Amino acid sequence: MLNFNYCNPTRYVYGEGEYHNVGTLLRPIARKVLLHYGGGSVKRSGLYDAVVQSLRSAGIEFCELGGVKPNPSVELVRQGIELARAEQIDGVLAVGGGSVIDSAKAIALGVTHEGDIWKLYTREEQQTTAPLPVATILTLPAAGSENSPNTVLTNEQTGRKLGYGHDLLRPALSIVSPELFLTLPPEQMAYGACDMLCHIFERYFTNTQGTELTDALGEATMRTIMQQAAILRREPQNVHAWGQLALAGTVAHNNLLGLGREQSWACHGLEHELSAVYDVPHGAGLAVIVPAYFEAVWQANPGIFAQWAVNVMGVTPSRNTERVVKEGIARLRAWYRELGLPQTMAELGIPADADYAAMAQAALSTYGPRLGKACLPGVLPLDVAAAEAVYRAAI
Ligand code: NZQ
Ligand code: ZN
Repeated sequence: MLNFNYCNPTRYVYGEGEYHNVGTLLRPIARKVLLHYGGGSVKRSGLYDAVVQSLRSAGIEFCELGGVKPNPSVELVRQGIELARAEQIDGVLAVGGGSVIDSAKAIALGVTHEGDIWKLYTREEQQTTAPLPVATILTLPAAGSENSPNTVLTNEQTGRKLGYGHDLLRPALSIVSPELFLTLPPEQMAYGACDMLCHIFERYFTNTQGTELTDALGEATMRTIMQQAAILRREPQNVHAWGQLALAGTVAHNNLLGLGREQSWACHGLEHELSAVYDVPHGAGLAVIVPAYFEAVWQANPGIFAQWAVNVMGVTPSRNTERVVKEGIARLRAWYRELGLPQTMAELGIPADADYAAMAQAALSTYGPRLGKACLPGVLPLDVAAAEAVYRAAI
């Protein structure tokens, strides 16, 4: 296990109906918030009205900005920053999924940052100020942004989708009420479960030795995600299963499971290019990338892949490691199929003659330097040609 330094200050409030308490819970955090939300689901479900009532009865002032799109754009963030400055807010309340939360984090960061917000994401500028505090009411368990220090934005003008991370971006407060997930369409549950699982893959498949505890915690969380998502496919109104899935999704990405490990993020690097260029849902892109990536890299560390196949995918142990690993990957593909997830670029709507070389180059130039490498790291580091081969294997 490697050395680590972990700080996770988010107050995490779980339970049915807890969103009614958001006003009171916000009192120690902010006096006036920007209420930020997406394209309308919060109004249709009645959550918006409940939040407004809670804010008013707790004496929390607010202004509002809706309209966050999936794969949130920097353009709306810029509007949010202007509004937040004009209204002199001192906190941002995100009510939505990962896109709304990521957009809220960017606004919170941009209000105090004197330069251009996008230049923090491109690394042309450095963060020198603390962001405003962010609070969240989660409506879609998937990205883990309710407890992660990350935000991902898309710049529609340049066609780039880039992440930014800072410990101060972990929300001050996150409220998770599982009944809010009952209005989600089945495909969003599937995308979310796929994303959570991949957040663990990026940490679990490592060459770091001596990681018994985080191996075991990661395996339990992966099994939980797969089991609860399968239940929800059959019983979408099962509130208990939603609660289990949501907690697993938070744990999957708050980096508890990555402590002391080298991490990869290769699948995310490859997927973000698909989302940036073709605007596909992040979880759907991952379902296409992950099996092709596993098949390309498993031989670099068969031990960890065989351990996963046995402990998570339920494959019978055998001395024939190749058979065990391949059966594990086949079972993962079957789970994706059971959830109705796409399996190929064609099913994602991405043509065979897409510019995979350019996307591979972009993935490397974004993710490599951030992780201090000239490649996409992982059990087998990928150069541009190897990254392109992963895309092409998924056509
Ligand atoms: O906009 P509305 O009308 O709210 O509809 C949303 C949206 O269309 C809908 N939705 C959300 N809650 C709902 C609901 N519909 C019915 N009932 C509800 N309760 O779901 C759609 C998708 O929402 P979105 O927020 O885009 O999905 P998700 O939570 O999967 O977030 C995806 C974004 O997170 C980024 C992804 O790249 C992507 O941009 N990620 C962020 C990470 C982070 N900050 O740590 C890590 C992840 O790896 C990921 O990259
Ligand atoms: Zn993800």
